[in-house]
Amino acid sequence: MAGKLDGRVALVTGGAQGIGAATVRRLSEDGANVIALDLDAAGAKKAVEGLPTEGLGVAADITSRAEVKHAVDEAVGRFGKIDIVVNNAGVTRDGLFYKMGDDDWDLVLATHLTGSFYVTQAASESMVKNKFGRIIFLSSRSALGNRGQANYSAAKAGLQGLARTLAIEFGPYGITANCVAPGFVETAMTKAITEKTGGSWDDLVAAASERAAVKRIGQPEDIAAVIAFLASPESGFVTGQTIYATGSPAV
Ligand SMILES: NC(=O)c1ccc[n+]([C@@H]2O[C@H](COP(=O)([O-])OP(=O)(O)OC[C@H]3O[C@@H](n4cnc5c(N)ncnc54)[C@H](O)[C@@H]3O)[C@@H](O)[C@H]2O)c1
Repeated sequence: MAGKLDGRVALVTGGAQGIGAATVRRLSEDGANVIALDLDAAGAKKAVEGLPTEGLGVAADITSRAEVKHAVDEAVGRFGKIDIVVNNAGVTRDGLFYKMGDDDWDLVLATHLTGSFYVTQAASESMVKNKFGRIIFLSSRSALGNRGQANYSAAKAGLQGLARTLAIEFGPYGITANCVAPGFVETAMTKAITEKTGGSWDDLVAAASERAAVKRIGQPEDIAAVIAFLASPESGFVTGQTIYATGSPAV
């Protein structure tokens, strides 16, 4: 069966697990050849095993421009181009603002903002050449403010500004730039935060489900589905937007 993304090539950062791995799988199911890029080399390779299309797992740290260049060159060498980039790799280093250290501030901004800058700049070369591209950033509901996440929330809000500006600069080349802003999604990231705060995962899920209009928390596949729409050719009139996927209208 013909897929919406047949003939396309998608690069997903942080593709080894969680939302990234679900996105790698979903874009492959839609017909794209996929590159999973991650700090975790074994995880990146595993994420592309058994897919219906061709996949490549690449190890790279997106906070290093040199490593990003090397990875993008390898991907373009293998598949000839990149059509879709999903800037998904992320970290959290939570803490109240008054005692937040430079290391925690710097790592979170370097990963989400600077890493997305390096990856998108490198991947956009072939998009401009081919006059087609889909740039997607993982923002967050936390962009609207979240206690203990000054660094993360600043970075996630910054990505929304980046998407709006790239929408303007790249629009004439058939390239769109958008954000997906998830709410609470079940992944290693959210489980690690719970462990750190000493809370019970089950209690947290129950409370978050109760707060959500749809009475459940998100799964990685929920977010991958929104990304798949923004990655598809049919989303070409949507650009510079942030789609909140939080299970509630009240973000
Ligand atoms: N899980 C949620 O509830 C949630 C909510 C809103 C937004 N998000 C965002 O969605 C994205 C994915 O989140 P997740 O929950 O799947 O996270 P996760 O922790 O499960 O996976 C993140 C992946 O990014 C990789 N990574 C981290 N730093 C990297 C670097 N410097 N270079 C390359 N790879 C790196 C990790 O190795 C990991 O595989 C993140 O940007 C996150 O901020 C998640």
